[in-house]
Amino acid sequence: MNRNVLAVCTHRWLGIVWVGLLAAILTVAIGCGGDDGLGDCPPASQSQQNTGATIVFTTCIGCHSSQLQGADRRGVPDGMDFDVIDIVRDMAADIYRTAEDGSMPPPTSDVTALNSAQVEAVRVYLACGAEFGPPSQ
Ligand code: HEC
Repeated sequence: MNRNVLAVCTHRWLGIVWVGLLAAILTVAIGCGGDDGLGDCPPASQSQQNTGATIVFTTCIGCHSSQLQGADRRGVPDGMDFDVIDIVRDMAADIYRTAEDGSMPPPTSDVTALNSAQVEAVRVYLACGAEFGPPSQ
C-alpha cells in the first residue's frame, strides 16, 4: 500500500518535472529563434528586401546619415548612421523595433510614418541579413 502511494507520488512528481522541462526547452527554443526579434527571412523575398533597403536608405537616412552634421542631424546621436551598412547590421533589431512600434521616424517630425507593408519590408530586409547597403556602397 505504502509502496503504491509512493509510486503514484513519484509519477506525479516526474510529470511535473517533465512539464517544467518542456516549458524550459520551449522558452529557450522560442527565445533563440527570435532573439533579435526579426523573425524569419522568407524565401524568394528579393523584391521585398529591395523595398525595405530603399526605405532605410531614403526615409531613415534623412536624419541618420554620416553625410549630415550638426543641426542637420536633427538630434540623431553621432555615429548612428544608417548609410553605413555595418551600423545597419549592428542595429538591425533596434531599427526594426523602432519602425514597428512607430517611434521612428519620430512622430513629431515632418517625415511620413511607415505603413505596415513598409515596416514588414524593412523587417524582411534585416531578417535576411541586410545583404546590401545603400547604392553608394
Ligand atoms: C526626422 C529625423 C529622423 C528620422 C527620419 C529617423 N530618425 Fe531615428 N532617431 C532620430 C533621433 C533624433 C534619434 C535620437 C533620439 C531618440 O532616440 O529618440 C533617433 C534614434 C533612433 C534609434 C535609437 C533609439 C532607439 O530607441 O533605439 C533608432 C534605432 C532609430 N532612430 C531608427 C530609425 C529608423 C529605422 C528610421 C527610419 C524608419 C529613423 N530612425 C528615421 C531622428 C530620426
